[in-house]
Amino acid sequence: MNRSGISIKVYENRDQEAAAVAQRIADLVKSKRGKGEKAVLGLATGATPIGVYKELIRLHREEGLSFQNVVTFNLDEYYPMQPDSDQSYVAFMQQHLFDHVDIPSENINIPDGTLGQEVVDTYCEAYEQKIVNAGGLDIQLLGIGRTGHVGFNEPGSTADSLTRLVTLNEVTRQDAAPAFGGLKNVPSQAITMGVGTIAKAKNIILMAWGEKKAEIVKKAIEGEITIEVPATFLQELEGVEFVLDKEAASLVS
Ligand code: F6R
Repeated sequence: MNRSGISIKVYENRDQEAAAVAQRIADLVKSKRGKGEKAVLGLATGATPIGVYKELIRLHREEGLSFQNVVTFNLDEYYPMQPDSDQSYVAFMQQHLFDHVDIPSENINIPDGTLGQEVVDTYCEAYEQKIVNAGGLDIQLLGIGRTGHVGFNEPGSTADSLTRLVTLNEVTRQDAAPAFGGLKNVPSQAITMGVGTIAKAKNIILMAWGEKKAEIVKKAIEGEITIEVPATFLQELEGVEFVLDKEAASLVS
């Protein structure tokens, strides 16, 4: 049984799951627009949200959904990383969303993987502050890694951690290896929003699909809250939804 405050929605397949999340985002964007306000979105990369971005592009093209009043903050970026590199999360977001909608480029925020070590801490503090100044995250979209990471908050990340430079777990680096043409090319560090940054979002939607995510999804929802599985910290928060397909939900009791 799910004793945490997490609400769970299960869809027949990943397309329906993606469409439901895209609709949530579209509804927020439209309602904010009606009030003359900006919608502040926390975004994730990886395979999980691609269907959501595809559907948002369709809503933009076919149903006139505008992103003029959208401000985005991405969760993370590899470090070091050049934005024009194929593996960068800047390239990912351009390819899967930003190049296809009318979001003003100055409204897009993605951690900067090009900075020198000596300025990273100051940069991360400014990233936190920029989220606050934007009015906070209305919706934070999350995937979940096999280590139980959200963003790149690997095991050992504390509940109050903020945006910072982190060392990637070996499991996470192995999962990224195909995209980098081998493990040795995967950066060992990343800049990520912290668990505490994510926790401040007004709504958190964690998505997962496929059998491979079933075990970690069960742990995140039903497991003991532990620093070893950072996604378990979500159990302590209000307004957290897990949006799953049948396979990812298959082990949840
Ligand atoms: C990506 C991110 C990661 C991924 C997670 C799942 O911005 O922060 O936490 O969400 O690694 O990745 P996929 O979706 O590729 O299974």
